[in-house]
Parts: sequence; structure tokens; C-alpha cells
Amino acid sequence: MTEKDKSAVIKAKLQDIKDLPSLPLAADSITRAVLDDKSTAQTIATAISKDPSFASRILRVVNSAYYGFYRQITSIKEAVALLGTNEIRMMAMAITVYDLFKAKEATRFNRKNLWMHGVAVAYMADYLQRTLRKGLDEAYVAGLLHDIGKIVLDQFFPEETHEILQLFESSEMSYLQAEREVLGLDHGELGYLVAERWNLPAEITVGIRYHHATSGEIVVEPAAAIIHLSDYFAWQIGYVGSPDDPPESSHLSESLQGLGLDEERLESLMGTLREGFKKLEAFLAAN
Ligand SMILES: [Fe+2]
Ligand SMILES: [Fe+2]
Repeated sequence: MTEKDKSAVIKAKLQDIKDLPSLPLAADSITRAVLDDKSTAQTIATAISKDPSFASRILRVVNSAYYGFYRQITSIKEAVALLGTNEIRMMAMAITVYDLFKAKEATRFNRKNLWMHGVAVAYMADYLQRTLRKGLDEAYVAGLLHDIGKIVLDQFFPEETHEILQLFESSEMSYLQAEREVLGLDHGELGYLVAERWNLPAEITVGIRYHHATSGEIVVEPAAAIIHLSDYFAWQIGYVGSPDDPPESSHLSESLQGLGLDEERLESLMGTLREGFKKLEAFLAAN
């Protein structure tokens, strides 16, 4: 079978999956409130407070040592007032995606590592976006979801995943090459197809689709460049995902160029990001 034939088989299989996990966007009032950038602090606080277990997960993070409040924060309203809508939005989104990633049975990928990697990429992507003001307003969500294709693989394509991992372990191939060999496409493209079904905005789907793209595609898509770069940073800093397969660095200079970054600027960004990771650690430890 050619690569094109293989990917056609996978795409057809994906089409037939009826119980594809849904991003609880439409159904879930918290996610809806959180994702809607017109939501006020009040709307978000009300939506979260209606779900006590969700609220307590947020409060656990807010009360972690990182934030160092001198007293216990006991209500979401207070948390939103102290930390701001954006911070709470980001926490709520990460928690929602955690539930989406959580495995019901034993799986081939380490789901927690995948989630932590996603949160790391999300923080970086958001930071890059805010610093560079380029191309990806929803950088954080795109980062959280960029490897969603792996979850779909793990959940719905067990035989193929087994084959990919075997090939990866027994050959010189990178994990990504093994994916392309077995599936005729990579988890970026697979994730893209799922994100399309969820009707996510184009900038998010593009970021997901091309985060491992080959030369050319990355430069023209700032969303892809941001996710690609963040993926690389996250790996460098120790949030490797699952399996531990280093992102290719061959397109790194293209991504940097595409975003108008030079090496010097990159170094200073890395320094700031390392600082920001203390917050990330606090968040991950509380979840
Ligand atoms: Fe990836
Ligand atoms: Fe990744």
C-alpha cells in the first residue's frame, strides 16, 4: 500500500467511529463559559461554582504554595477576583482536557505525561503568542490539544498503535517516522481531523495539523510555528510527553524565522519561560 492508500484507510476508519470523545464544549457550561472570551469574571465564577468537584480542583491549585496567599481561598468568586479571569480560564481548560485525556483502561501511552506535556506546550504557546502577538489567539487551547491525535490513536487504533510502537522500538525510525510508515499520516494530521469534527477555529486546527509538518508548511503558518516551537521547548525542559520522542529540530530555524525570532531573543525567552515553569509545576502537582 502506498502512503496515500494507508492514510485513506485510516481516515475512513476515523469517519466510522461513532463514539469519538467529544470535547465537552457544547454540553458543558463551565467549558462554554471558559472558552467564550466574552465571558465576564462573574459568568465564569458562577459556572464553575455550580460544579463542586471542579471548583475544588481549582481551589486546590489556587491554595498551593506557589500563589502563597496568606489565608485559605474558599470560593471561586474570590479566586477569580484574586487571580483574574484569564488565569482561571487557563486552569479550567487544562482540567477539562485532563478529563478528556484520562484513560479508562490500560493504554499504550502514558496519559498523565501526555497531559503534562500538553499543559507545558500550552503555557509556552500562550506566552509566545502574547510576546510576539502573532497569529494564534487561541494558542493555549491549541497547545493543550496539539497531541490529541495520540489519544485518538491509543483509544481507537490499538492494533496500529501497537505496530507503530514496535517499529519505533525495533528500528532506527523516530516515533513520527514509524507513525507515517504504519498510518500514512502522523498524529498531527489525525488530531486535525478530530479537531475539525469538533468545529474548532481554523487557527487551532492548523496549529494541531502542522506541528510536525515538513519544511515549508511551518513557515507560512504562524500557528504551526508557535506550536512546533513550544513543543520543542517543552521537550527540552523535561516535559517529554509519551513516548519520549524528541521533536525534530530540523525545522526549528524555519519556525524561528517565521515568527521573526533570532537566537538571542530565543535565549531570553527561554529564561523567562523557565521562571514561568514554577507556576506550571504548582499546577501539575495539585492535579
Ligand atoms: Fe506531536
Ligand atoms: Fe507534542
